[in-house]
Amino acid sequence: MAENKIHVDPAEILKQQEIMQAICIENKAKSKQQKACVITYGCQQNENDSERIKGMLQKMGYELTDEREIADVIIFNTCAVRENAEKKLKGNVGALKYLKAKRPNLVIGVCGCMVQQEQIAWEMFKKFRHISLIFGTHGLYRFPELLRKARANTRVFDVQNIDGQIAEDIPVKRDDKFKAWVTIMYGCNNFCSYCIVPFVRGRERSRNPEDVLDEIKALAKDGYKEVTLLGQNVNSYGKDLTENKMSFAELLREVNKIEGIERIRFATSHPKDLSDELISAMAECDKVCKQLHLPFQAGSNNTLKAMNRSYTRESYLETVRKIREKMPDIALTSDVIVGFPTETNEDFEETLSLVKEVRFDNLFTFIYSKRKGTVAEKMPFVLSGKEIQENFDRLVALQNEISREINDTYLGKTLPVLIEGESKTDKSVLQGRTESNKVVNLKGDNSLIGSMQNVRITEIRTWSLNGEL
Ligand code: SAH
Ligand code: SF4
Ligand code: F3S
Repeated sequence: MAENKIHVDPAEILKQQEIMQAICIENKAKSKQQKACVITYGCQQNENDSERIKGMLQKMGYELTDEREIADVIIFNTCAVRENAEKKLKGNVGALKYLKAKRPNLVIGVCGCMVQQEQIAWEMFKKFRHISLIFGTHGLYRFPELLRKARANTRVFDVQNIDGQIAEDIPVKRDDKFKAWVTIMYGCNNFCSYCIVPFVRGRERSRNPEDVLDEIKALAKDGYKEVTLLGQNVNSYGKDLTENKMSFAELLREVNKIEGIERIRFATSHPKDLSDELISAMAECDKVCKQLHLPFQAGSNNTLKAMNRSYTRESYLETVRKIREKMPDIALTSDVIVGFPTETNEDFEETLSLVKEVRFDNLFTFIYSKRKGTVAEKMPFVLSGKEIQENFDRLVALQNEISREINDTYLGKTLPVLIEGESKTDKSVLQGRTESNKVVNLKGDNSLIGSMQNVRITEIRTWSLNGEL
C-alpha cells in the first residue's frame, strides 16, 4: 500500500486492531454473549460502510442481530441526502429512549453522512441524551477506539471537519455471499447545487488500483461471483492518483481478468465524465453487465445549468446514443429530481420528453429537498408544492408505463440468472437477477444458490419477473 497523506497511517490502523482484540477479550469474559445491531439508511456506499462497522463489531466479539431490544450496541448509519431521511432517523433514535432507561449500559451510536454535518450532529447530541456516541463519515476507521470510550459510559462526540482519508484493512462482514460491494473511491468534487454529498463525504480520493484488485481477487477466492464497484462518480476514478495511475476504463479491464468473478457492475456514473474509452471497455469486457445507471436529474438545459451539472440535454442524449450504438440491448436506469427551485412547468415538460425519448428501464424519482449549506438553498421556488407534486405524479405514471412495456418484452425469453438466495417473502422461492439487474423469482433447489442458470421468463410482475429453469 502506497503511503501518502490520503491514506490513514497504517500505525493508526494497527492501533485500532489492538483495541478490537482487547474489547473482544473483555466481551468473551462476560457471562452473556454481547450483541450488536446496525441499522443503515442511504446509498450503497453507506451499505458498504455498514458492512465495515459490522466487520469491526464481529472482530470485537459481538454477535450481530436485527433485534434492537436485545442488542448491547445499536448503531445507526445515517443519510443526509433528503430531509425525510433525517426525519425518519430522528424518529427512530428518539424511540429508543426507553431502552436506554431500562438498560443504562446500552450503547446507542449514530454515524454517517447526517452527523458529518457538525451543527446537526451537535444538536442531536444535546437533544437526545440517550445517544452515547456520534461520529462522522471520516471517523469510521476509529470506531473501535470510540466504542471503547462509550462502553466505559463516557459520551463521545467525534465529528471532524476534514477532507477525508482512505482507510485500508478494515474488517468487513458482507451482507451477501455471492455479490459484493467494492468501494473504489470516496467523496465527490462536483458540488451539484442541490446536493449535500460533497459536504459530508469530502473530496474525491481513489483507492490504489492494487488495493481494489487484491480485494476483488480475495472475493473471487471466497466464492463471490459478482462485484459492484462503488463511488459517487466512478468515471473520475484515478484522476487524483499520483503513482500507478489508472483510469476507470482501465480498472474495469483489469477486474474483467479476475478469474471466478462472473459479473461486474458499477455505480454511479456522472454523464459529464462518461468517456468513449469507458463505453468501449464496457462493450468489450464480457463480464461487465450491459446495464448502466446514468443519472440525468433534469431534461431542461436551464435546470441543468442551475444544478451545476456541467452537461446539456443534447450531450446527454448523444452519450446515450453512443452507448446504444455499441451495446444495443443495454438496460439504462437514471435518477431525476422534480421541483428544483428554478424549474418551471416548461422545464418539467422537457424532463418528460427526455424520459419518453430515452425510455429508461427504471427511474429513481425524487422531489427536490432543500439542503442546508448548498448553493440551491437560497434559490426561490417558481412552482408551488402542489404543482411539483402533480408533475412528480405525471412523471411516475409515465415511467411506470415505460417500465412495464420494457418488462413485457422479457416474456418467453430465456436468460442467464445469477441465483442469489431465497426470496425474503417466500422461503420456497429462489431469487436471482438478470444481467440487466431485474429480479427474477423461480422454483428450484437451494443447491442452485450462487450459480448462474438459464431461466425462461413466464410471467411479468410490476417489480419483478417470474421464471422457470
Ligand atoms: N453521486 C450520485 C448520486 C448521489 S445521491 C450521482 O451523482 O448521480 C442520489 C440521488 O439523490 C441523486 O442522483 C439525486 O437524484 C438525488 N438527490 C440528491 N440531492 C437531492 C436533493 N437535495 N433533493 C432531492 N434529491 C436529491
Ligand atoms: Fe451529489 Fe452531484 Fe456529487 Fe452526485 S455528482 S454526489 S449528485 S454533488
Ligand atoms: Fe446519503 Fe451519504 Fe449516500 S448522504 S445518499 S448515505 S453518500
